[in-house]
Amino acid sequence: MMFEGLLVDLVPYGKRFFALERTWRNNDSAFWSSGGDRHIVSRASIQRMADRWAEEAEQMGPSRGIMFGVQAKDGTPLGFITINWLLPHSRLAMLGARIGDPAYWGGGYGTDALLLIIDYAFGWLDMRKLWLGTTSVNVRVMRQMEKTGFALEARERCAALMDGVWHDGLLYGLLREEWPGRDAMVERLGLRAKDGQNGSSTR
Ligand SMILES: CC(C)(COP(=O)(O)OP(=O)(O)OC[C@H]1O[C@@H](n2cnc3c(N)ncnc32)[C@H](O)[C@@H]1OP(=O)(O)O)[C@@H](O)C(=O)NCCC(=O)NCCS
Repeated sequence: MMFEGLLVDLVPYGKRFFALERTWRNNDSAFWSSGGDRHIVSRASIQRMADRWAEEAEQMGPSRGIMFGVQAKDGTPLGFITINWLLPHSRLAMLGARIGDPAYWGGGYGTDALLLIIDYAFGWLDMRKLWLGTTSVNVRVMRQMEKTGFALEARERCAALMDGVWHDGLLYGLLREEWPGRDAMVERLGLRAKDGQNGSSTR
């Protein structure tokens, strides 16, 4: 399965992505996505985490979540975007994302992936609400939330210790009726493919 965006495609999170996990889990991307954790993660513990996810997915089915690899249009694996938890009864889903290589941050890749997964969650999975948690210093996520129409719903005081400083946690939510659809959002934000990219993957 593949969802095609302007800068990225969402693809199965396969071996090409997994091979980069050790790098990604030990650089600044892990610090930001975990809310301040800098401990070194070994290859073995990454494998254990993957095994645990697979076991939980087997037991819980789709409620455990759905993980996509985010890849650039030239096929470069960039990271993941996930629905981490899904409550079928309330049709509520929690999102998460990490672009592993900081060189790609701020270039629009994460937002392109976000638009795709929002459309997938509302359009295919029939979710009623999406939510996401971050820290009050994660400016990239805060900007993404603002751009895509999420509302700031809660502020948790002193929720994350990051390099010795306490920061608040922020919870954002987006209701289905607030989502105009990906095409409308692409137009509203004026998003475009980068020069030389025609929207189809080369690998
Ligand atoms: C969060 C993440 C997925 C966003 O993806 P991205 O490709 O960096 O995001 P985008 O470029 O689409 O959007 C980020 C926005 O923040 C802005 N931004 C970047 N650095 C900024 C800064 N220092 N101050 C203010 N705004 C900043 C960008 O300009 C962009 O806004 P714009 O489109 O109006 O210019 C990615 O940065 C990432 O993986 N970060 C590390 C892990 C992480 O934080 N995960 C999320 C945990 S909740």
